[in-house]
Amino acid sequence: MSKEWLKHAVIYQIYPQSFFDTNGDGIGDINGISEKLDYIRELGCDLLWINPCFDSPFHDAGYDVRDYKKVAPRYGTNDDLRRLFREAHGRGIRVLLDLVPGHTSEEHPWFIASSKAEHNEYSNRYIWTDSCFRGAEGMPFIGGERERNGCYILNFFKCQPALNYGFQNPKENWQLPPTHPDCVATLEAMKDVMRFWLSMGCDGFRVDMAASLIKLDDENRTGIKALWKNVRSMLDREFPDAVLISEWSDPPKAIDAGFDIDFYLHSAGNGCSALLRDYQCHGNGKPGGEDHSYFKKGGKGDVTPFLEEFCPWYEKTKGRGYISFQTGTHDTERARWSLTEDELKIAYAVLFTLPGIPSVYYGDEIGMRYLEVPTKEGGYNRTGSRTPMQWKKAPNLGFSEGTKESLYLPVDSADDAPTAEEQMRDPDSLWNTVKRLLALRRAEDDLSADAPFEVLFARKGSPLFVYRRGSLTIAVNPSAEPVSEKVCGAEKIVYAMGNASVKQGTIELGPQSFLIAR
Ligand code: NOJ
Repeated sequence: MSKEWLKHAVIYQIYPQSFFDTNGDGIGDINGISEKLDYIRELGCDLLWINPCFDSPFHDAGYDVRDYKKVAPRYGTNDDLRRLFREAHGRGIRVLLDLVPGHTSEEHPWFIASSKAEHNEYSNRYIWTDSCFRGAEGMPFIGGERERNGCYILNFFKCQPALNYGFQNPKENWQLPPTHPDCVATLEAMKDVMRFWLSMGCDGFRVDMAASLIKLDDENRTGIKALWKNVRSMLDREFPDAVLISEWSDPPKAIDAGFDIDFYLHSAGNGCSALLRDYQCHGNGKPGGEDHSYFKKGGKGDVTPFLEEFCPWYEKTKGRGYISFQTGTHDTERARWSLTEDELKIAYAVLFTLPGIPSVYYGDEIGMRYLEVPTKEGGYNRTGSRTPMQWKKAPNLGFSEGTKESLYLPVDSADDAPTAEEQMRDPDSLWNTVKRLLALRRAEDDLSADAPFEVLFARKGSPLFVYRRGSLTIAVNPSAEPVSEKVCGAEKIVYAMGNASVKQGTIELGPQSFLIAR
């Protein structure tokens, strides 16, 4: 918790393909991000996370890296990225790149060398069994495709062979321990990649599938924690300000491993999904089916499934690291798929006032919709959340001056597609609500990432949720029915949405309302 500035940080996630195109080729670029830094700052975000922007054949949107040290030509050059770091720093914004350490593209030169029949420096850079006829129990693998007589393990899609950091509890002779020099060499190669970008001005990394590197680890994740502690101590020595955020969704383990922040990921049925996207386990699994999301006005949910998961995590990590709530990501349906703008306002008010560090996915600040579009670059159902940012009412909604046909993905063609320009002008818009909430968060120390948190009211079957942050009492009622509750310490309103009031310590919350009192 040495990085003081993290207490007030707010993440803004950019899918570079779809953010802003400055050269008219229909795809977003690094210079496009540089051009929009003032927009991001005005919204109230100061920590960018850019999805992989490295050279890649793009079979998984860039999560299949072919060259870790080169910006993909379609996004620009390394110099453009260097300029982005500089321009961002000039505005008090830090920039995180996406590190994909678990696997590469099958077109990465390391993998090409590793696939050769004769032994070479890269033979053990990936995980291979000892026969093309023998796979790996419990792990996906491919055999019969390469010159080398073995099967290789996959970390995700077929295009993503797993890098070899070793097995915590090896069972077969081809499974090397993490201490094997070739596994150590893999980790050193990844540290070298980190040094390369950090020396250029990058401020840290979001780490893809951070828990996937060591295979056959124990329940405590001893192997993977040791690996990241090793990385952390290198960073502490050489780049002490560098931030590491894990895609892990197990904060006690991730923070133990040395990450500053762990993303709390949405997955069907977990505590996070109970807030925004709880239609998957009920009804037809789609919006319009039975929706138990807590923030759904007519929803059947309450906040307790979320708290049952979150509170123990919070207790185990407080004072040592942060949990991050995301409005959305490139991997989840946009929350706007099932929630209205009014429901989103209430949802964001809570997400931005809980302890930890909020993360805004580009376009969620204007309530961009999930679009039904064909899959692109391995996106499948995720593609609908990756469509171009909607800047203004103009051709291609201001995303690109290219032809409609050249666009990476189609823009929202609805007449009422929200745009940033319109919403910035309207004081009641979602955009301005986000801006006000983030400004308040910055102004109130009691809303900072590490200010104390305590649940004051949460009950099965009740829409009311009341919590304390330092000297502030925060109450929310996402439902259509009014609620009231006596809460000590709540006297004076600091911020309110909807019909909310405090009278002699009793909070009265009308339908869909939110209140902060002191
Ligand atoms: C998680 C990333 O967020 C996702 O988009 C990607 O497909 C997988 N990891 C594989 O790298």
